Amino acid sequence: MPLSQLNPQQARGHVVFQTQCAVCHYDRSGGSLHGPSLLGVYRKRELPSGAPANDDRVTATVMHGRGMMPAVGNGMDRQDVDDLLAYLHTL
Ligand code: HEC
Repeated sequence: MPLSQLNPQQARGHVVFQTQCAVCHYDRSGGSLHGPSLLGVYRKRELPSGAPANDDRVTATVMHGRGMMPAVGNGMDRQDVDDLLAYLHTL
Protein backbone atom coordinates (compact mmCIF):
# COMPACT_ATOMS: atom_id res chain seq x y z
CA MET A 1 0.00 0.00 0.00
CA PRO A 2 1.49 3.42 -0.89
CA LEU A 3 2.43 5.53 2.13
CA SER A 4 -0.01 8.22 0.99
CA GLN A 5 -2.91 5.79 1.49
CA LEU A 6 -2.14 4.85 5.08
CA ASN A 7 -4.83 5.71 7.62
CA PRO A 8 -3.77 7.80 10.65
CA GLN A 9 -2.98 4.80 12.86
CA GLN A 10 -0.96 3.10 10.12
CA ALA A 11 0.89 6.36 9.46
CA ARG A 12 1.81 6.61 13.17
CA GLY A 13 2.98 3.00 12.97
CA HIS A 14 5.20 3.92 10.03
CA VAL A 15 6.87 6.55 12.20
CA VAL A 16 7.38 3.97 14.95
CA PHE A 17 8.91 1.62 12.38
CA GLN A 18 11.26 4.30 11.11
CA THR A 19 12.35 5.09 14.65
CA GLN A 20 12.63 1.59 16.13
CA CYS A 21 13.06 -0.93 13.33
CA ALA A 22 14.38 0.65 10.13
CA VAL A 23 18.00 0.57 11.26
CA CYS A 24 17.84 -3.23 10.99
CA HIS A 25 14.90 -4.12 8.71
CA TYR A 26 13.67 -3.12 5.27
CA ASP A 27 9.90 -2.72 5.14
CA ARG A 28 9.15 -1.69 1.57
CA SER A 29 11.73 -3.77 -0.28
CA GLY A 30 13.03 -7.31 0.01
CA GLY A 31 16.41 -8.49 1.18
CA SER A 32 18.13 -8.56 4.53
CA LEU A 33 19.66 -5.65 6.37
CA HIS A 34 20.64 -6.83 9.88
CA GLY A 35 17.40 -8.79 10.08
CA PRO A 36 15.05 -10.12 7.40
CA SER A 37 12.86 -7.79 5.33
CA LEU A 38 9.42 -7.32 6.85
CA LEU A 39 7.83 -6.79 3.44
CA GLY A 40 4.74 -9.03 3.36
CA VAL A 41 5.40 -10.26 6.90
CA TYR A 42 1.71 -11.03 7.52
CA ARG A 43 1.08 -12.37 4.01
CA LYS A 44 2.97 -15.53 4.86
CA ARG A 45 1.79 -18.04 7.43
CA GLU A 46 5.15 -18.10 9.17
CA LEU A 47 7.83 -15.70 10.29
CA PRO A 48 11.37 -16.44 9.08
CA SER A 49 11.97 -18.49 12.25
CA GLY A 50 8.96 -20.69 11.48
CA ALA A 51 6.86 -19.19 14.30
CA PRO A 52 3.31 -18.26 13.29
CA ALA A 53 3.03 -14.82 11.67
CA ASN A 54 0.57 -13.22 14.07
CA ASP A 55 0.38 -10.17 16.32
CA ASP A 56 1.26 -12.08 19.48
CA ARG A 57 4.50 -13.42 18.03
CA VAL A 58 5.54 -10.13 16.46
CA THR A 59 4.78 -8.29 19.71
CA ALA A 60 6.81 -10.83 21.70
CA THR A 61 9.71 -10.45 19.24
CA VAL A 62 9.65 -6.68 19.64
CA MET A 63 9.34 -6.72 23.43
CA HIS A 64 11.69 -9.60 24.26
CA GLY A 65 13.94 -9.93 21.21
CA ARG A 66 14.71 -13.16 19.42
CA GLY A 67 18.01 -14.79 18.54
CA MET A 68 20.21 -12.05 17.09
CA MET A 69 17.52 -9.39 17.54
CA PRO A 70 17.65 -7.40 20.79
CA ALA A 71 14.50 -6.39 22.66
CA VAL A 72 13.56 -2.99 21.25
CA GLY A 73 10.18 -2.38 22.88
CA ASN A 74 11.41 -0.65 26.03
CA GLY A 75 10.64 2.85 24.80
CA MET A 76 7.30 1.85 23.31
CA ASP A 77 3.90 1.97 24.97
CA ARG A 78 0.87 -0.16 24.08
CA GLN A 79 -0.35 2.43 21.60
CA ASP A 80 2.99 2.48 19.79
CA VAL A 81 2.90 -1.31 19.50
CA ASP A 82 -0.69 -1.30 18.20
CA ASP A 83 0.17 1.40 15.65
CA LEU A 84 3.29 -0.49 14.57
CA LEU A 85 1.31 -3.72 14.09
CA ALA A 86 -1.29 -1.83 12.05
CA TYR A 87 1.49 -0.56 9.78
CA LEU A 88 3.13 -3.97 9.43
CA HIS A 89 -0.23 -5.37 8.24
CA THR A 90 -0.09 -2.99 5.25
CA LEU A 91 3.23 -4.39 4.00
C1 HEC B 1 19.42 -4.05 16.15
C2 HEC B 1 18.76 -4.61 15.00
C3 HEC B 1 17.27 -4.86 15.03
C4 HEC B 1 16.26 -3.98 15.37
C5 HEC B 1 16.39 -2.55 15.86
C6 HEC B 1 15.03 -4.69 15.11
N1 HEC B 1 15.28 -5.95 14.67
FE1 HEC B 1 13.91 -7.37 14.17
N2 HEC B 1 15.37 -8.71 13.82
C7 HEC B 1 16.72 -8.44 13.86
C8 HEC B 1 17.45 -9.66 13.58
C9 HEC B 1 18.97 -9.79 13.53
C10 HEC B 1 16.49 -10.66 13.35
C11 HEC B 1 16.73 -12.15 13.10
C12 HEC B 1 16.67 -12.81 14.48
C13 HEC B 1 17.05 -14.26 14.50
O1 HEC B 1 16.22 -15.09 14.07
O2 HEC B 1 18.16 -14.57 14.99
C14 HEC B 1 15.19 -10.03 13.51
C15 HEC B 1 13.99 -10.68 13.35
C16 HEC B 1 12.74 -10.09 13.37
C17 HEC B 1 11.50 -10.73 13.08
C18 HEC B 1 11.31 -12.20 12.69
C19 HEC B 1 11.15 -13.03 13.94
C20 HEC B 1 11.00 -14.50 13.63
O3 HEC B 1 10.41 -15.19 14.49
O4 HEC B 1 11.49 -14.96 12.60
C21 HEC B 1 10.51 -9.81 13.20
C22 HEC B 1 9.02 -10.01 12.99
C23 HEC B 1 11.16 -8.56 13.59
N3 HEC B 1 12.51 -8.77 13.68
C24 HEC B 1 10.50 -7.38 13.79
C25 HEC B 1 11.10 -6.20 14.22
C26 HEC B 1 10.37 -4.98 14.49
C27 HEC B 1 8.88 -4.80 14.27
C28 HEC B 1 11.28 -4.08 14.94
C29 HEC B 1 11.04 -2.66 15.43
C30 HEC B 1 10.11 -2.53 16.56
C31 HEC B 1 12.58 -4.72 14.92
N4 HEC B 1 12.43 -6.01 14.48
C32 HEC B 1 13.78 -4.13 15.30
C33 HEC B 1 17.31 -7.24 14.16
C34 HEC B 1 16.64 -6.10 14.59
